[in-house]
Amino acid sequence: MHKDVERILFTEERIHEAVSGIAAHITSDYADSSGLIVVGILKGACVFMTDLIREIKLDCTIDFMVAKSYGNSTVSSGNVRILKDLDSDIAGMDVLIVEDILDTARTLSAVKTYLLGKRPASVKICTLLDKVAAEKVGDVRADYKCFDVENEFVVGYGLDYAEHYRNLPYIGVLKRSIYEH
Ligand code: IMP
Ligand code: MG
Repeated sequence: MHKDVERILFTEERIHEAVSGIAAHITSDYADSSGLIVVGILKGACVFMTDLIREIKLDCTIDFMVAKSYGNSTVSSGNVRILKDLDSDIAGMDVLIVEDILDTARTLSAVKTYLLGKRPASVKICTLLDKVAAEKVGDVRADYKCFDVENEFVVGYGLDYAEHYRNLPYIGVLKRSIYEH
């Protein structure tokens, strides 16, 4: 275990099982889709995304976005800054957004509103983790999720603290001493 990690919440094996489980649901839910596009939100979703798409047994395309939200509780398409937009046209497509963790959902709420403006057939959200106790902005909820977590700071499997720990193969709680001085 990494010296900065207090304890492991989800091992590689458990993550793999959970990812396979939701991928099976996605495969069956989108079986009749006329065009599925899986959109990863960088950088946090990168590890989850690459594992997930390999378990989705359907023809699909992928794309990535980078978005930054402003610290404001009222959400509209106006308060998210898209640093990298989609390369593809999503009109008429079924969009599945892949995110690392839903905390306040501020970013995703704005991203979802933004994407809905591009006239897709549908937009759903798939998150690796959901901080269930955190108050959510807007009506954004996870359509698919692997695990619920408490209000603790977690890292690994794509999740970072100051850009570190993304490459840990497991998800763990970061020691408080790392971010509290
Ligand atoms: P939200 O907009 O409040 O839902 O924030 C979600 C974003 O905050 C995620 O995409 C993460 O980048 C980051 N985040 C929130 N909680 C954690 C955590 O426990 N560990 C690492 N990143 C987190
Ligand atoms: Mg992040």
